Amino acid sequence: MAMTDEWGPLGPLAGEWEGEGGLDTAFSHSQNKVLGTPYLEKCSLKPFGPVDNGSQHLYGLDYRSAMWRGDEENPFHTEVGYWLWDASTGEVMRGFVVPRGITVLAGGISTADATQFTLKATHGHPHYDIGENLYLAKNASTLSYEVTITVGDGAWSYDETTMLRMNEFDEPFAHTDNNTLHRVG
Ligand code: HEM
Repeated sequence: MAMTDEWGPLGPLAGEWEGEGGLDTAFSHSQNKVLGTPYLEKCSLKPFGPVDNGSQHLYGLDYRSAMWRGDEENPFHTEVGYWLWDASTGEVMRGFVVPRGITVLAGGISTADATQFTLKATHGHPHYDIGENLYLAKNASTLSYEVTITVGDGAWSYDETTMLRMNEFDEPFAHTDNNTLHRVG
């Protein structure tokens, strides 16, 4: 059976990926200003499933991604988590951890053959919520996270916005990231 059958819209994402066209916008504490940072990303998405919750059958991708700026040895951002697909409801989820002490379960509804879908998590949402550590809750709290995935030919892209309530700003700050990843395996 083709991967696109059981993994729905996540099927085309399975594999090893790289992209050097990433762009991050964040408030830099070391430079005390908002900074646009280009980055290189490596991402691995490994299929698994089914995972059964009673009558629910999920298929997923075990993922790990890392981003570097310039020729730094250590990545300046990493994520580990799972992408999940529930064919019976069309629900797509991405549960992941950012090692600043943040966990996210973002979700959305899609179709099995969709080449574009959007997932969202909001602080305090009954299903798709964001957890964070005590320091961040006080100083740089994540209000929402939204990502749109677009699947292309031998490549896929994401465009994501993380809204932060930061002590440095009166208004919520849009911390954004986007990249296009090309298949390397
Ligand atoms: C490609 C993805 C991402 C990259 C490259 C990235 C990178 C960065 C960078 C460079 C900073 C600034 C740190 C500093 O100079 O003080 C930052 C801050 C932050 N990021 Fe991200 N980030 C990404 C995704 C996310 C996501 C998905 C979340 C949460 C859902 C998140 C939450 C935060 C928070 C809360 C801060 C503020 C920390 C502080 O002000 O003390 N980031 N990120």
